[in-house]
Order: sequence, then C-alpha cells, then structure tokens
Amino acid sequence: TYSSALQGRKVVITAGPTREAIDPVRFLSNHSSGKMGFALAAAAQSAGANVTLIAGPVNLDTPPQVERINVISAQDMYEAAERAADHCDIFISAAAVADFRPVQAAEQKIKKKNGQDDAAIALIKNPDIVAAIAARTELRPFTVGFAAETEQLQAHAQNKLQRKNLDMIIANDVSLPDSGFNSDHNAVLVIDSDGCERLAPALKTNLARQLIDLIASKAL
Ligand code: C5P
Repeated sequence: TYSSALQGRKVVITAGPTREAIDPVRFLSNHSSGKMGFALAAAAQSAGANVTLIAGPVNLDTPPQVERINVISAQDMYEAAERAADHCDIFISAAAVADFRPVQAAEQKIKKKNGQDDAAIALIKNPDIVAAIAARTELRPFTVGFAAETEQLQAHAQNKLQRKNLDMIIANDVSLPDSGFNSDHNAVLVIDSDGCERLAPALKTNLARQLIDLIASKAL
C-alpha cells in the first residue's frame, strides 16, 4: 500500500531555482517556487523513505523528518547532489536549474558608466545535474527528471528522457493557466520506457502522492 511503498529506501530530491551570481548584489534566476519538489519530499517521507531534499532559495518550510540541504548556485546543487546520490535508491530532479551562469561573478558591484546605454553578460553552461547522475555506471539510482514545456509536451519530454538517459520523466505544460511554476496545482504526463500516462489536474500535494506511488512501483 501507499504508506509503506518506500519503507527503508533512500530518496534524494532537488527542488527550487538556483541563483547565478553576476556580482555581490545581482543574480540570474527563475520563478520556480519549489512547491512540487517539496510536495514530493513530503510524500516520499510519508511513504516510509529516508529523504534528503536539496533546495535552492525558496520560501517553504521543510517537510517533517526530511533532511534539507540548502544551496544557492547550480554548481553548489551539483556538488550536493553528487554526494547525496551515492547511496540512494531514487533520485528525483525537480529543481529549475539555471542552464547558464556568468563566466565570472564580479568581485565588486558592477558600476554603470556615464553615457553607457547597453551592457552584456558572458555566460557559460552549468553542469546538467540529473544527466550526470543518470550517466553513472556505478551507484546509479533510479533517476527521474522533470520537463517544463510550452509546446509539443510529449515529444520534447520523450526526447529529454532519452538524451539524459532518465528512467522516467514528468512533463508539465507551463503555458496552461494555473499550472506549473508558481501554482499550487499541476497537470502532468508521466513518460518512461513503458509508455505515457496522463495524471489529471490536481493539487501538487495530491499529485506528489500519485507520482511517488508510480515511481515506487517502477523503481523497486
Ligand atoms: O533540459 P531541461 O532543463 O529542460 O531538463 C529539465 C530536467 O533536467 C529537470 O529534471 C531539471 O531538474 C534537470 N536539470 C538539471 N541540471 C541542469 C538543467 C536541468 O538537473 N543544469
């Protein structure tokens, strides 16, 4: 049954946005609230798992009995995830990791010059955290990713599943009203090698329980 589906298992979940420093007072980030990842952490804990939640900067309370590791940048999240994933059974990547970071963060606040009308920031690619974990040949957990898309949901998600070597991908259409990033609701497609399953729109807390059940049934 649901309440013991993950008894004695170790689950690592990333959640929230990352912040990529431009200088000591500025950063690049996104609107991720962390709600889906935190809901998954609570649901996995309720299902009996030992849960480590690696969280970017979000305004959410840590679910009961969940071990939380706070990080800021994608690089920090990558290092924390690599460490935590070593002895886990399931890795769920719900974080909205910044794809790029400034090549270097300025040591002092960047000043605008007199008469300056434009500016540019050179960016470099961040490590793909979930792809790195899914690429492991040893200590590889069952690896689940998310895909937030605005069009061709299933095709783009299927492509990501294969490209990143994931075991499962949870796809949501972030262009729908009251769904995705900042909402309390979500509607998703779950895709794995067996096929595609649509979960009806629901509260993220409710969806998280369904997703944890599904993940447990496939992973174990
Ligand atoms: O490629 P895209 O960013 O759309 O893939 C989304 C999935 O990859 C999510 O599970 C996200 O957490 C993960 N991801 C990651 N590291 C990155 C970029 C995305 O783990 N640098």
